Amino acid sequence: MKTVLVTGGAGFIGSHLVDELVNRKLNVRVLDNLVGGEQNLRYFHKEVEFVNGDCCNRLDCKRAAEGIDTVFHLAAHAAEGQSVFTPVFNAKTNLVGSITMLAEAINAGVENFVFTSSIAAYGSQKKLPIREDAILNPDDPYAITKKAFEDYLHIYYHLTGIKPYIVRFFNVYGPRQRMDDPYRGVVPIFVNKCLKGERPIIFGDGLQKRAFTYISDVVEPICDVVGRKSLVDNPVNIGTEEVHTVKELGEKIIEKMHVNLELQFIEERTSDVKVTYCDMGKARKLFAYEAKVGLDQGLDKTIEWAKKEGPQEFRYFNYSEIPKLTSKTYTTKKI
Ligand SMILES: NC(=O)c1ccc[n+]([C@@H]2O[C@H](COP(=O)([O-])OP(=O)(O)OC[C@H]3O[C@@H](n4cnc5c(N)ncnc54)[C@H](O)[C@@H]3O)[C@@H](O)[C@H]2O)c1
Repeated sequence: MKTVLVTGGAGFIGSHLVDELVNRKLNVRVLDNLVGGEQNLRYFHKEVEFVNGDCCNRLDCKRAAEGIDTVFHLAAHAAEGQSVFTPVFNAKTNLVGSITMLAEAINAGVENFVFTSSIAAYGSQKKLPIREDAILNPDDPYAITKKAFEDYLHIYYHLTGIKPYIVRFFNVYGPRQRMDDPYRGVVPIFVNKCLKGERPIIFGDGLQKRAFTYISDVVEPICDVVGRKSLVDNPVNIGTEEVHTVKELGEKIIEKMHVNLELQFIEERTSDVKVTYCDMGKARKLFAYEAKVGLDQGLDKTIEWAKKEGPQEFRYFNYSEIPKLTSKTYTTKKI
C-alpha cells in the first residue's frame, strides 16, 4: 500500500483515517463532496490531495482512482434513522455511489478496496454478542445498502480480483464528530446539550445497551487489515467489547462536564434496537485486535475537544420522501 484514496475523507472517521495514513508515510488523496461540511479540512496535512467531487459521478471517481493502489471507501449518508423516510437519497449515495466508486477503482487497476460497513447490517439478532457469521437481517434502508454493497464486493472480487476488506463498525465517537447533527451520534448530542446548558434527552428508560467505540480504536485497524490474506472478502467486526447503557453514558457525560443538569426521560422510540453489540473474537484471532480506549478516557478526550469548539445550534432539515414515515423526533425537533 503506497498511494491511497479515502472517500468521505472530510468526514469524522475519514479525517482521522487521513491523519493515520499520512503518519504511515502514504500518499493520500481524498474524494469528498463536502455535504457533511468543510469543518475537518482544517486538520488536513498540506500534502493531502483533495478532490472535491461526488461518488455518484463517474468522472469524479475516475479522476480520484487514477494511480491509486488502495481505496478506503467511507463516503456515505450515514444517518440510519433518516434512511427510512429518505430511501431514494440514501440508496443513491450509499449504493449507487459505492458501486460507481468500485467500478472506477476496478477500471483504474486498484488492488485493495476497504469498505466501512456497519453493525446495522446485522439488524435485530437474537444471539448476542453478534458474530460475523450471523445471517444479515437488515431492517432499514441504510442497513440494506451496507449489506448489498458487501455482496457487490464479493461478486466483483470473483469477477476481477479486486480485494475487498470489509470492516463492520458500531457507535464510533470522538473529536471531530459533528455536534450540530441532531440525527446521529448519542455522544456528540449529549455533549452538545450539556454545552448548551440543556438536559440530555433519553428515549425510554435509558437501558438500551451499546458498545461505544473511541475513534482511534477503529482508525488504526482499518489500515492494519489491508494486505492480510485472511481478511480478503471476509468481513470483520471492529470496535470495543465494553458495553454501557445510554443512561450510564448520559450520567457520565453530565458528571465529566460538571454541569448541574439531570437526564430527561421521554417516550420510547419504537425504532430503537434495545441491546446490540459485537463479538470481537475474529478480529482478535486474525490480527490481534484489542480496543485500547475505555469509555471514561474516550469521553475525557472528546469533551476536551468539544469544549474548545463550544456549543453548536442543532441543524434540522425538512426533507422527506415519505412524509408519513417521518419520525416524530424529526417533526417535533425534540432531541
Ligand atoms: N460513525 C459511526 O458510528 C459509524 C458506524 C458504522 C459505520 N460507519 C460508516 O463509516 C463511514 C464514515 O462515517 P462517519 O461517521 O465518518 O460519517 P460522516 O458523515 O462524518 O462522513 C461521511 C463523509 O462522506 C461525505 N459524502 C457523503 N456523500 C458523498 C458523496 N456522494 N460523494 C463524496 N463524498 C460524500 C460527506 O461529505 C462526509 O464528509 C460511513 O460509511 C458510515 O456508514 C460509521
